[in-house]
Amino acid sequence: MFSLDMEFVFGFWLLVVGVVTLLLYFAWFVSKVMSHPPGPPNWPIVGSLFYLSHPIHCSLEELAKKYGPIMYLRLGCLNQIVISNAEMAMEVLKNHDVDFASRPLSVAGKHISFDWNDIIFAPYGDQWRLLRKIWTTKLLTKARLKSFELGRREEVAYMVENIITHSQEGKLVEVKPILVQLFTNNICRMLFGKRCEKFDGFLGKNIVEFFNSISKVAGPLSKPNISDVIPILKPFDLQGLERQFKFIRNEIESCLSKIFMEYRKGNKMVDDFPTTSFIEILLNLDEKLEDKAIMGIIGDFTGAGVDTSASTLEWALLELIRHPDIMKKAQEELDIVVGRNRPMLESDLPNLPYLQAIIKENFRLHPTSPVAVPHLNNKDTRISNYNIPANTIVILNVWAIGRDPKAWNKPLEFDPDRFVDSNISVQGTNYGLLPFGSGRRQCPGLDLAQLMVQYGLATIIHAFDWLPQPNVKPKDMNVMENIVGFISTPTEPLVAVARFRLPSQVYKGFI
Ligand code: HEM
Repeated sequence: MFSLDMEFVFGFWLLVVGVVTLLLYFAWFVSKVMSHPPGPPNWPIVGSLFYLSHPIHCSLEELAKKYGPIMYLRLGCLNQIVISNAEMAMEVLKNHDVDFASRPLSVAGKHISFDWNDIIFAPYGDQWRLLRKIWTTKLLTKARLKSFELGRREEVAYMVENIITHSQEGKLVEVKPILVQLFTNNICRMLFGKRCEKFDGFLGKNIVEFFNSISKVAGPLSKPNISDVIPILKPFDLQGLERQFKFIRNEIESCLSKIFMEYRKGNKMVDDFPTTSFIEILLNLDEKLEDKAIMGIIGDFTGAGVDTSASTLEWALLELIRHPDIMKKAQEELDIVVGRNRPMLESDLPNLPYLQAIIKENFRLHPTSPVAVPHLNNKDTRISNYNIPANTIVILNVWAIGRDPKAWNKPLEFDPDRFVDSNISVQGTNYGLLPFGSGRRQCPGLDLAQLMVQYGLATIIHAFDWLPQPNVKPKDMNVMENIVGFISTPTEPLVAVARFRLPSQVYKGFI
């Protein structure tokens, strides 16, 4: 009898403990999982993969129409949230800036950053802070930017000469390679003290090879890597992407090591406009950096400084050719401010408000990095009553934010007038327009990029009239988008007719 009672009591308490445990687990599950932001269904292993398509920013925008401006996705083992309006962008980039200031550790990132020794891919921490501080206080200061002004002026003149050569006898001009040349040479002068085309000797050969190797990164970087999504598959490298990244990394390391050796021996490139190049600054810093970190900074500068600006300018010119009335108005502004008897100069830029409005409108409609660079939170965070568990990847759909019909009137129209007399800027204080991001991870190349894009576009339309290819009406020009690496480019490269519109002597003797 006694032992039966004991069994009953024991059984009863076991049941109570079981029920309480279940309830607690359920409560935990509800708070942790059920309070995720809404999102498409998750299937075992693949998660929400089937709901995504190319280009990714367009399919994320479609999903956000259904699930809202903060949306949860699971891909393999990764938690992701997607932000699609200005209010939520402000939550992440301003109110929770420090919580979301890290980056996911991807296979590509590991190799391109020389084991997290760079700024773009490095997780938030001391090394990132040190390198970013060197970048902003020693490299891209206002004074140093100014010191490269004559080099930029010469590069822009080379671009004009290049377009004149390509457009001779009415030939069509493919614009992007000319822009890539402009921005590569500009970055080259800053990093190594001389334009690429004038490189010679052992040092020059290695610098050219370094640029060639860097240009190979975009291909594999454009492919989603299954090893990032399902980490237990990483050792198998099923797509061979890690092998490619390792190969490119070895090439880059080999070129840069030889370049560093030459500079340490006292050999260097000297330009017609002598300035202190970044490589000299980096090799002689008081806070001695490991070679890997110098490689990381140089890699970031080259990787982020060329195609971003070239694609932005290609999009802007494409939109102007599609809208001849806007092109005409911009050229009228240039004719008043600059006139037709001298080249456009950087000092003219503050006097060109319409040109600046065009560039803002271009950033709104065609942000260069439509989904920016992914962020990551290092600890559990709460946003808008949702729990965001630690290590969630944050995708900022800058493209969708710029086209949000609740924020922008006629969002699909290219209409620079919306920015005339407006104080909306691209500096990261207006969360509806974020081409350079905002907060701690904001683009540190913003001033350089703005300067070069404005100067390049102003020159290209001051010096030339542009028309679509014969038999193509402006409105029929293709504005479909493609993503290469993180960067948006037109699916069909811009090919157009260019006619020099200035007296022939204007650029004579300029180079
Ligand atoms: C039109 C040109 C450019 C655009 C639209 C652009 C845009 C961006 C964006 C959206 C980010 C990510 C921001 C975030 O994570 O929230 C970024 C990061 C970055 N950009 Fe740019 N960028 C441009 C040009 C440049 C140039 C010229 C350089 C340097 C030469 C540069 C260097 C960087 C670096 C180092 C980062 C990483 C910052 C960090 O993670 O702390 N960018 N850029």
